[in-house]
Amino acid sequence: MATSANDSFFIATPIFYVNDVPHIGHAYTEVAADALSRWMRQSGMDTWFLTGTDEHGQKIMRTALANGVSPKEWADRLVEQSWKPLLQTLDLANDDFIRTTEARHEVAVTKFLTLLHDKGFIYQGEYEGFYCVGCEEYKPAADLVDGVGEFEGQKVCQIHGRPVEVLKEENYFFKMSDFQQDLLDLYQSQPDFIQPPSVRNEIIAFVNRGLDDLSISRSNIDWGIEVPFDKSHVTYVWFEALLNYITATGWGSDEETFARRWPAIQLVGKDIARFHAVIWPAMLMAAGLAPPKRVFAHGWLLVGGEKMSKSKLTGIAPTDITSVFGSDAFRYYFLRAITFGSDGSFSWEDLSARYEAELANGLGNLASRVIAMITRYRDGVIPDGAPGSAPAEAALQAVMAEAVPAADAAMNAFAPHEALGQLWRIVDATNGYITEQEPWVLAKDPQEAQRLDAVLYNAADALRCLAVTLSPFMPQATHKLWVALGMPGSLQDQNIPDAGFAGGLTPGVSVGELLPLFPRIDPEA
Ligand code: ME8
Ligand code: MG
Repeated sequence: MATSANDSFFIATPIFYVNDVPHIGHAYTEVAADALSRWMRQSGMDTWFLTGTDEHGQKIMRTALANGVSPKEWADRLVEQSWKPLLQTLDLANDDFIRTTEARHEVAVTKFLTLLHDKGFIYQGEYEGFYCVGCEEYKPAADLVDGVGEFEGQKVCQIHGRPVEVLKEENYFFKMSDFQQDLLDLYQSQPDFIQPPSVRNEIIAFVNRGLDDLSISRSNIDWGIEVPFDKSHVTYVWFEALLNYITATGWGSDEETFARRWPAIQLVGKDIARFHAVIWPAMLMAAGLAPPKRVFAHGWLLVGGEKMSKSKLTGIAPTDITSVFGSDAFRYYFLRAITFGSDGSFSWEDLSARYEAELANGLGNLASRVIAMITRYRDGVIPDGAPGSAPAEAALQAVMAEAVPAADAAMNAFAPHEALGQLWRIVDATNGYITEQEPWVLAKDPQEAQRLDAVLYNAADALRCLAVTLSPFMPQATHKLWVALGMPGSLQDQNIPDAGFAGGLTPGVSVGELLPLFPRIDPEA
């Protein structure tokens, strides 16, 4: 296994608050990170995919109290009953799952705080400000808006629409203002550090306006990690939560692993880009550590034109979708239908339409037809028609040879929607090839036996290419296809860049039965 920093691909999602159950917004981040990491792993990168849960802070403490249990009991319940099961619901191949209540996290956070304190980056001061518990963040007055409805006459948080609370505390502060120029230099020297450009511009403008020091402790609550140099304070939940990316990968305990993994690619929703592109790199710089490799902020899932959220009752549970369409279709739909980095609207109509046109009729039907024709015309044995250079075959092979590297470039540019568009060129080209070559006509004429061999082989070889390259997006359907094609070995071990070369399919092997990859959905069900 290669361990040079160059072929390390460490991708992390935000760790999600356990005050509530997951919705499709969280699931969206998870499936994107999963598809990207599966792709990179199958492209030979030394890959690590981390996700987890954020369990301290006021928001969780209050939810637990409202439900009559301790915060830890509440977090345990939500993690076991909702957040860990999400990994199965979405078919995620994450390498680790960190909870901020785990000892490995608490120990390393304590070490980090001590380090920054010793280095003189933490001082004591007083703070008074408007706190939004939903955001777990002090809000500048400029970010508040006038409340409506029951909150008329009050100032509310722009994101949560709920009143902020005035807090006045003795706190410890992190000297974030020291890092303004270093951050601006980082954004300048690494133009792709923050993506997409809209978010990058916003962050640069924000940092240019000047940075305040950050209050990093709380004395009014006790649900958090104790500040090592003042036990009457707990660590501010965001300061501690951001550290999960290094506490889960060995910082302070297993330096070899840490050196192998770090720096991470931070995949986040744009709501929390500022935490990841400003506060987080400043914290790392203060500790003498490398900043993340990249912060990619995807857009919001909109339902009925608004950012989907539980509090606004537009939350949709991932299982509402997967129980009808399956996890593959869930993954495919969100990664294909939404330009990664932009906001995107979810609708059941759009999901059903794409399921039927692209998955059932496009890919599913193609796979069924090819396997059925090999079964009918060649007794289920893949004929030796490999791979051939007649014009029709050459054209199909050229599409594969172009589309796979183009999809790879798109994945490296964090554009899964574009990668799927490229790979769908192969689906469409293969469907077109079959329509034009009319194997059912060739089958009637013994003189055309060799042509029929070539057509069946090349169509099935294109399916092999699709099974490998679509496996990061749809692990289950592609696995069934791989097995039906009689291919040896595990699909997850197949190298993606090689998959575009024609002729990888083994002739003489028997195909297996293939049930519909994307069965018809009964609209009444
Ligand atoms: O912010 N559209 O956790 P969180 C797209 N614990 N993505 C969405 C979304 C939507 N409508 N709603 C949520 C926190 N997300 C902190 C993070 S990290 C050190 C701490 C996704 O449970 C998106 O990834 O509020 C967003 O950034 C994240 O969920 C927020 O999850
Ligand atoms: Mg949130």
